[in-house]
Amino acid sequence: MVRLYLATSNVGKVKEISELLAAFDVSVLPRSSTLEAPVETGETLIENAILKANYDFALIEGSAVLADDSGLFVDVLDGAPGVYSSSFGGVEGDDSRNRSALIERLKQARVDSSRARFRCVMALKGISGQISTYEGVVEGTVYPFERGLHGFGYDSMFIPDEGDGRTFGEMERYEKSNISHRSRALAKLVEAITRDPSILL
Ligand code: IMP
Repeated sequence: MVRLYLATSNVGKVKEISELLAAFDVSVLPRSSTLEAPVETGETLIENAILKANYDFALIEGSAVLADDSGLFVDVLDGAPGVYSSSFGGVEGDDSRNRSALIERLKQARVDSSRARFRCVMALKGISGQISTYEGVVEGTVYPFERGLHGFGYDSMFIPDEGDGRTFGEMERYEKSNISHRSRALAKLVEAITRDPSILL
């Protein structure tokens, strides 16, 4: 059985990915919390996803690694916060500050809303070192207000085109997962493994 280490210790992500890969001869393992995290110096999601996959691959010998990077890209802000989504408010990982900063920037831009999209890139590094990447996107509109208590990050400010007018923050987890950038990137990864399981080796 191939051991696939995720470059994340986020329990939700580990669970979702394990479920989707259950049909394959793969055991999905979380990132050890004792490992130091790499500095994400990339200027694109793809660069950061590859950087994280390479970093963990070097620490964990003889296993495949799956890393992901994601963010929200707002048209009226020329794609910001984008690759810097997790620290847009000045404090890494502080979702509430990040949302406040985005609301402020939308107000400064004097708009009631803007076209936007969440993007996610997954980078798989097989045991032999070969890398492949997969991208998922969900299009929608971002607003300078918050609605809904579910989810995380910018969920409460984003209404996907494919929904019924609710923000991601107002949806149940499974409803968001049906259309999310992350599940779409994962679906592409699963498709690729189905087509050619050797990408894990
Ligand atoms: P990560 O690369 O998955 O850690 O995501 C980076 C940042 O992008 C997060 O801290 C959030 O601010 C934002 N983000 C990514 N995916 C989502 C999502 O599904 N909902 C809301 N915010 C997200």
